[in-house]
Amino acid sequence: MIFQASRLIITVNHLHSLKSINRVWLQGDFRRNMHLLLNKTLINGEWVSSSSNTELAVTNPANGSIVGHVPDLDVHDVNKAIDAAHKTFHSNEWSSLTAKERSTLLKKWYLLLESNRNEIASIMTMESGKPLAESLGEITYGNSFVEWFAEEARRVYGEIIPTPQKQKRLFLTREPIGVAALITPWNFPHAMITRKASAAIAAGCTVVIKPAEDTPLTALALVKLAEEAGFPKGVFNVVTCSRKNVAAVGEALCTSKQIAGVSFTGSTEVGRILYRHCAEGIKKIGLELGGNAPFIVFESANLEKAVTGAMTSKFRNCGQACVASNRFLIQDTVSDAFTAKLLTAMKSLQVGDGKDQGVQIGPLINTAQLHKVSDIVEDARSKGAHIVVGGRPIPGKGELFYEPTVVANITPDMRLYTEEVFGPVVAILKFKTEDEALRIANDTNRGLAGYFYSENLNQVMRVSRKLEVGMVGVNEGLLSTAEAAFGGVKESGIGREGSRHGIDDYVEIKYICLGGLD
Ligand code: SIN
Repeated sequence: MIFQASRLIITVNHLHSLKSINRVWLQGDFRRNMHLLLNKTLINGEWVSSSSNTELAVTNPANGSIVGHVPDLDVHDVNKAIDAAHKTFHSNEWSSLTAKERSTLLKKWYLLLESNRNEIASIMTMESGKPLAESLGEITYGNSFVEWFAEEARRVYGEIIPTPQKQKRLFLTREPIGVAALITPWNFPHAMITRKASAAIAAGCTVVIKPAEDTPLTALALVKLAEEAGFPKGVFNVVTCSRKNVAAVGEALCTSKQIAGVSFTGSTEVGRILYRHCAEGIKKIGLELGGNAPFIVFESANLEKAVTGAMTSKFRNCGQACVASNRFLIQDTVSDAFTAKLLTAMKSLQVGDGKDQGVQIGPLINTAQLHKVSDIVEDARSKGAHIVVGGRPIPGKGELFYEPTVVANITPDMRLYTEEVFGPVVAILKFKTEDEALRIANDTNRGLAGYFYSENLNQVMRVSRKLEVGMVGVNEGLLSTAEAAFGGVKESGIGREGSRHGIDDYVEIKYICLGGLD
């Protein structure tokens, strides 16, 4: 089987633009051509430095070079951003806009995001290391949330309830909650912002965005285009900060009385802390947290399709996705055949600097992530797992590259069984029966995504029902799309993003009882 590179990247109908991006790159002074590579942040419609005048350097994980600097904000600055968002939320300029007017602004933002896709992709690849084709794929995906919620803005309907008493009429309206704090991760620096921000804005909220410390530049590019789209000042505010300030900034966002709700995508560990902070003010919270996705291949499966799905699901963004498959459960009768086909497909993977043509696997995001992946694989090796291929960093490429790896004979005492590896590592376990596969798949406190391959319709219906996850891929390794509800069960989160349900985190239902009627 020939592995199709296009499956690895969300949608690559924009490969044609890679050529022009590379040309910009090769000029050496590409920064001069970029109007979206910014070194100030947006608060209350002004591009500002931090009040302490300190900055945070953003580095390229492929080679350690500095891509740019952004302001390192502290709590004092964050409070200014919250204040601006709060004033704007209550201002006539924002609160009097109709749903259609908000929709029009979102559409303008969408068009600008589309027309600037090459520049955003360059910035994203520089700061996150992901291959250019994947950055473009993420832009298609991220922009689709803006387009989707521009349309949904006009459908935030209320209800008229048949009255039980003649003199009353009962109405439910859905009102924006106020200021939403959006705390986003480094693995999808564009899509995780647009998935939250466009839903919040469609609902009528204003936002304070806290991008990840590793990838703030994409966030600044996105809000620059929002500014160009004509959103009133104070609707979008961005708080960039270093790891030194991040705990205090996160706490300030979750505990401020002026913040009505928090939406976070990231690790379960950090989600738990933010949830505790939000409890104090009984705030609305949406959490998209870690996963431990099973990828099950039953003996009836089409193995070609299963391998294609495995490649997509595992190696997208170098395995750094919450929905990435983490444990591969393969029925013993097809295990050798599946593994052989997978190894063949993996031979064509090109690891390297994301800006280089043809590269499909970039570096891990930072040293902590490299150590985590290495330690998890070493833990499995020391407990008797079989490293079939890979299993080491690739120092010749740069400090943060790790070999695409397959580890077999995984047992429940290994970290590869219990923890999300967040790297290019396939962990294989064999099973004999469907019940055993389901027991292993559900033997985790996470429940984000789960995948399985089977050509048996009864099995498809049974296993879809019994998997304890928020999202199921049946004969499919890539689930994410703006039209569907993204989210998990158990410790993988609360709430759903995308789909018509993505607005729910940003609205409150208000009951109006009109009485005294004849
Ligand atoms: C994530 O891994 O955090 C999100 C991935 C996606 O939206 O597909």
